[in-house]
Amino acid sequence: MVVPLGNTQDAFFPRSIAATMPTIVSGHGVHLVDDRGRELIDVCSGPFLASLGQGNERVLDAMSRQGRELTYVYSRMTRHPANARLSGRLARLLGPGFERVHLTSGGSEANEMAIKMLRMRALSRGERDRTVVVSLMPSYHGATVLTLGFNGDVSVSGSWGPFTVEAERIPAPLTFRAPSTHEAAATSLTALDDLLARVGAERVLAVLVEPIGGQSSGVNVPHPSFARGLRRRCDEHGIALVFDEIVTAFRTGEVLAAFHDRDALPDVVTLAKGLGAGYAPLGAVATSAQLADELADSLGFVVSHSYDASPIACAAGDAVLAEIEDRDLVERSTRLGAVLRDGLDALAARHRIIGDVRGRGLLQAVELVADPDTMATFGPGLDPAHEIAKVGIDHGLLLYARRQNEGRFGDWLLLAPPLVIDDDELASMLQRFDDTLRAAAPRLVGRSDGDP
Ligand SMILES: Cc1ncc(COP(=O)(O)O)c(C=O)c1O
Repeated sequence: MVVPLGNTQDAFFPRSIAATMPTIVSGHGVHLVDDRGRELIDVCSGPFLASLGQGNERVLDAMSRQGRELTYVYSRMTRHPANARLSGRLARLLGPGFERVHLTSGGSEANEMAIKMLRMRALSRGERDRTVVVSLMPSYHGATVLTLGFNGDVSVSGSWGPFTVEAERIPAPLTFRAPSTHEAAATSLTALDDLLARVGAERVLAVLVEPIGGQSSGVNVPHPSFARGLRRRCDEHGIALVFDEIVTAFRTGEVLAAFHDRDALPDVVTLAKGLGAGYAPLGAVATSAQLADELADSLGFVVSHSYDASPIACAAGDAVLAEIEDRDLVERSTRLGAVLRDGLDALAARHRIIGDVRGRGLLQAVELVADPDTMATFGPGLDPAHEIAKVGIDHGLLLYARRQNEGRFGDWLLLAPPLVIDDDELASMLQRFDDTLRAAAPRLVGRSDGDP
């Protein structure tokens, strides 16, 4: 079936974006097929989400069985075994400190719920003034009105200022262009100290960060001193540390990116994307039994959405986690991530447009530079990732390009394929990326600020 431009589903997209979108009609494993019969590798698992690829029989069977047994009950009126199974499995995978799981329908909702829970806890402690959320610039935490305000995005106030409560931002510890990763972390922590002194640490509810960046920072991997510094300051001032692991969970060679350093674990963690893996809209807030009990014993937490912990979504999530466990996909992302990284390093040596390669496991990025000698960015007039992604389609790649902050902090392309990708598919993806860069990059390099 050919889906023409300008049909019902295009109503709200800018035409410039809709015009370049392929129409995908089927998928198998890591491949998608468009209406012209082109087979594309799903380089970013959609937006870092479809970790098991398309058509996983075990997950589809579990959903269908669950639907036949119990299709829907409301989590506010009833308990049900599918919720207990998924939350139990997730809590076991996350381990001590994350014994309680609240399920949501996605990532923005999970972040919003996390902050609402912390607000209720603050109220129950009589800390009415704790209303400030601290986040990083750049960062991304969601698209609901509350979470838009947390995003480290320079356009937020212009677009949403009157509607949303903005977070206080500190500079993200961006490593590329910094004198050293350690100094980048130190600069961010100094900014946090200044901020705590300025707004009053007793007014800060939470520090919300992606422990390893996603699309907003091109997978920035901070120096370990950053998370440790956050942990220490949060402990000192009774502030909750929240890690948004909506992109990073299961992907960086650990169940959580937080587990790369067990000395700086957060109080609350949010997951989504790879938890439902595209089979069901699903997110989670995980925290300690202590925090949940404190809430339950005081004001309680009474915010809910109709689809929270819906049985079919729970069955999907439980089967996704079973696949991740049984197929050792977290371990595998370390091994395959190393292969991907080597391949990207080799491409960086050949393509001048690549200024940096970074990431962990199967969450990698290449930073695109207009001038490799000066590391110059492209400026607002030219979106190089979008240009490359358009060419990628002709070379069999579906790349995710979503420019943020008008490229002010740089431009990048992420490579985060489904965790089930095999060695041959990975090699093919790298080959296609090489071909794509060869075709697209020469007319981009040297074009700073969008000069024609
Ligand atoms: C780091 C991060 N947090 C939160 C979200 C929001 O998740 P969702 O799109 O499921 O609402 C995203 C989505 O891209 C994300 O990348």
